[in-house]
Amino acid sequence: MKLLVCGGAGFIGSTFVRQRLLEHGDEVTVLDKLTYAGREENLREVADAPGYRFLRGAIEDPDAVAGAIEVGRPDAIVNFAAETHVDRSIAEPDAFVRTHALGTHVLLEAARAAGLRYLQVSTDEVYGSIEQGSFTEDSPLRPSSPYSATKTGADLLVQSYFHTYDLPAVICRGSNNYGPYQYPEKLIPLMILNALHGDSLPVYGDGMQVRNWIHASDFAGAISHVLEHGAPGEVYNAGGPDECANVDVVKWIIASTGAEESQIEYVTDRPGHDRRYSLSSQKVRALGWLPRVRFEEGLQETVAWYRENTWWWEPIRSGDYREYYERQYGKSLG
Ligand code: NAD
Ligand code: DAU
Repeated sequence: MKLLVCGGAGFIGSTFVRQRLLEHGDEVTVLDKLTYAGREENLREVADAPGYRFLRGAIEDPDAVAGAIEVGRPDAIVNFAAETHVDRSIAEPDAFVRTHALGTHVLLEAARAAGLRYLQVSTDEVYGSIEQGSFTEDSPLRPSSPYSATKTGADLLVQSYFHTYDLPAVICRGSNNYGPYQYPEKLIPLMILNALHGDSLPVYGDGMQVRNWIHASDFAGAISHVLEHGAPGEVYNAGGPDECANVDVVKWIIASTGAEESQIEYVTDRPGHDRRYSLSSQKVRALGWLPRVRFEEGLQETVAWYRENTWWWEPIRSGDYREYYERQYGKSLG
C-alpha cells in the first residue's frame, strides 16, 4: 500500500511506520508538525528505507496536506496526529481544539477530494470512566477532559463524513499504550526515568486508578488490521490483555529498576481524573487480531529499552521537559 501517515513521528505513529515499512513493504509518507512530542529520531531506523518520506507540516494546514498527497499519491490516510497528554489539555486546551477539530476536518476534506480511505486513530477515553465491565463500540460517548472531548469531536466528524459523503472511513480506539519511544510525560516512561535517577515518583490521588495496558506494537498491529479488514463506517476497539492500578505499575517499575518504595510521593489528584478504563475488543478479535504482549513481560522489556537508549531520552530530559516538569509537579528533576 501507499500510506500518508499523519503524526508518524510520535510514539505510536512511529511504531506503525516502522511496521509498515519493514514488515509490509509499504510506501509511507509521514506528515508531522514535530511538536514537543514529535521526534524525527523516532524514525531513525527507517530513515533510509526505500519508500519512506518525511514532510514537516501541520494537519490543520490544507496546503501542507495537499502537498503531502501530491507527492505521496497515497491509497489511504492514517491519522495519529494529536495532542495526547491529558494534563496538558487541562492546563492549555487550545492546541487540542486546533489539532483535533480543525486538523481532522482538513484531512477529511482532503481524503474526500482525492477519494482516499481514511483511518482515525482514537482512544478509549471517549467513553469516559467505567467502574465495572468493559466498554464496547456501542457504549455512550462521555469524555471527561479537554483531550478526550476534542478526540470525541474528531470521531463524530469522521463518522459524519461516512454517513454524509460515503467517505470510506474507519475508527480504531486504543487503550493505554506503553513501550519504547514514549515521551516521558506519560506514567510509565516518567516513572522509569525518575526511578533510574533517584527522583520522586509522583502518584496522583490514591493511585488506585486502573488502566488497560496495551503494548504499542500490538496497537499498531490492530490499526493495520482495521485498515486492511475493517468495514467502512465502523468503529473498532483495541484494548490490551491486562489491567493494572497505577500504584502497582509504579511498584513493578521500582522492583525492576532497583529503586526504593520511599521514592513514591502521593501528590494532588488530576482534576476530573477518570477512575478506570477497560475496553472490550471482541469486534476486532473477530477480524483476526489478537494482542501478543502481556503487560508484565512488556513492562520489563520497556524498562530495559529505556536503560539502554540514553541517546533517545537524554536530550528530552535535559531540555524543555524540565520546565514542563516544574510547572506540572512544582519541583525540579534531580
Ligand atoms: P504522541 O504525542 O507521542 O505523538 C503525536 C504526534 O502527532 C507527534 O509526532 C506530533 O508532532 C504530531 N502532531 C501533533 N499535532 C500535530 C498537528 N497539528 N499536525 C501534524 N502533526 C501533529 O502521541 P501517541 O501517544 O503516539 O498517540 C498517537 C495517537 O494515538 C493519538 O491520536 C492518540 O490520541 C491516540 N492514542 C494514544 C494512546 C496512548 O496511550 N498514548 C492510546 C490510545 C490512542
Ligand atoms: O487511555 C488511552 C489514553 O492513555 C490516551 O488516549 C492518552 O493519549 C494517553 O496519554 C493515556 O492517557 P492517561 O491519562 O491514562 O495517561 P497518563 O500516562 O497521563 O496517566 C496514566 C495514569 O497515571 C492516570 O491515571 C494518571 C496517572 N499518573 C500519571 C502521571 C503522568 C500519575 O499518577 N502520576 C503521573 O505523574
